[in-house]
Amino acid sequence: MSHATEPLQGKHIVLGITGGIAAYKAAVLTRLLVKAGAEVQVIMTPAAREFITPLTLATLSGKGVITEFFTANTGEWHSHVSLGLWADAMVIAPATACTIGKMAHGIADNMLVTSYLSCRAQVFVAPAMDLDMMAHPSTVANIKRLRSYGNIIIEPGEGELASHLVGKGRMAEPEEIADTLRSFFASSGDLAGKHILITAGPTYERIDPVRFIGNFSTGKMGYAIANEAARRGAQVTLVSGPVSGLSAIPGVNVVNVESARQMLAAATEAWKTADVAVLAAAVADYRPEHQADTKIKRETDDVASLPLVQNPDIAATLGAAKRPGQVLVGFALETNNAIEYAIGKLQRKHLDMIVVNSLADAGAGFGVDTNKVAILYADGRPSVNIPLESKCDVAADIINNILAL
Ligand code: C5P
Repeated sequence: MSHATEPLQGKHIVLGITGGIAAYKAAVLTRLLVKAGAEVQVIMTPAAREFITPLTLATLSGKGVITEFFTANTGEWHSHVSLGLWADAMVIAPATACTIGKMAHGIADNMLVTSYLSCRAQVFVAPAMDLDMMAHPSTVANIKRLRSYGNIIIEPGEGELASHLVGKGRMAEPEEIADTLRSFFASSGDLAGKHILITAGPTYERIDPVRFIGNFSTGKMGYAIANEAARRGAQVTLVSGPVSGLSAIPGVNVVNVESARQMLAAATEAWKTADVAVLAAAVADYRPEHQADTKIKRETDDVASLPLVQNPDIAATLGAAKRPGQVLVGFALETNNAIEYAIGKLQRKHLDMIVVNSLADAGAGFGVDTNKVAILYADGRPSVNIPLESKCDVAADIINNILAL
C-alpha cells in the first residue's frame, strides 16, 4: 500500500562542519541526508579539516567541499550569498563553542559563518563540546542568542565525551539530526496545522509499590502513527503508557503516563484542542480497588483475592465530549469475532473510525513490527482491508484514511 514519502527528498542542505571530534559523525549525517534524497553542500571551517578530510565529505555528498572564500589556484570565488539562497536549510554539526560564539556575534572570518549570516533558510545547530565548555555562562548565553535569532538548537546528549569526562556535550546522533530536519520539512505536509492526539502503549495499574496489572502492548503501533503524523506536519501530542526501547520522536510532545486514570487526564486535556484523536493504547480495563502503600507480604497479608474496579473508558469519554469536526479513531484488538465486536465499539464509543486487528492473524498485534488491519467507518462507507505490512506503512494508511474522512 502507500509508502511514506520522504520529506528530505530534493531538499538543498548546507552542512557546516566545525573542528571538533564529533566531526566524524558529520560523515554519517551526510550519508543519511544524501540517502534520503537531499542535496548536501558541505562547508568546513579550517579547523574541521584537522578532524576529517574534505575528500571524505566530497565523496559522500557528491559535491566539492567549500572551506575557503577562494579556490587558491583558480581564484574562483565561493559565493556565500548564493549558497545562503540555495539552501532550504542549514545545519551546523558539530558546532563548537568557538563557531557558536562567532555566529552569535557575527564574526564572519570564515566561509561557514559568512554563509550562516547570508542564510535565509532555517538554521539548525548541533553543539558538541566538553561538558564544562557547554555549561560555561558564555556558551549558554551564546546559544540563547542563537535561539533568539530563530535558530533551532539540536540539544547535545549526555554521555562519555572525548575527554573521557561524562556529561552533557555529545553531539546529537546523526539519525536524530536527520529526523529533526525531516520533521521540519514535513511541516509543510498534508497535516500541517492539525493537532493530533495519540495514545499508545499499555497502562500499569499499581497493586503495591512493586507490582502492577498490565498487558503486553509495546506501543509500536501508536509510536508509528505519531511519527507519521509528525512527519506530515501535524502538531502531535503522544500520551504514552510505560514503554521501553522506543525512541523519542523529534517534534512530538510526549506526555508519559502510567495508569489509565493518568492517561484519561492527559488525553482529556489534549482533546480540548485536538482535531483528531487516534487511541492506540491498550488501556487496562480494571485496576485494583486499593493500592497498598507498602509491599504486600505473603507472610502477613491475606491476598488470596484482589478486588478490582473498572477503569474509565478513555475512548468513550472523548467520544461523549466530541465537538463537531473532531475525528475520533479507536483500535480493536480481538481474538475472535473481531468485526462484530468492532462495530459495537464504533457505536458505543462514538468513534468515527476503528482499526481492527485480530490476534488470530499471523504478524498482527502486540510486539511485532508488522500489522494486518481492517478499517471500519461509522458513516457507513465500506470497510477497507489492509494486507500485512510494516507498522510504519499501516500508520501511513491509517492517516490517509483519516484524511479521506
Ligand atoms: O473496549 P476496548 O478496550 O476493546 O476498546 C479498544 C479501544 O478503546 C482502543 O482504541 C483503546 O485505546 C480504547 N480504550 C480506551 N480506554 C479504555 C479502554 C479502551 O480509550 N479504558
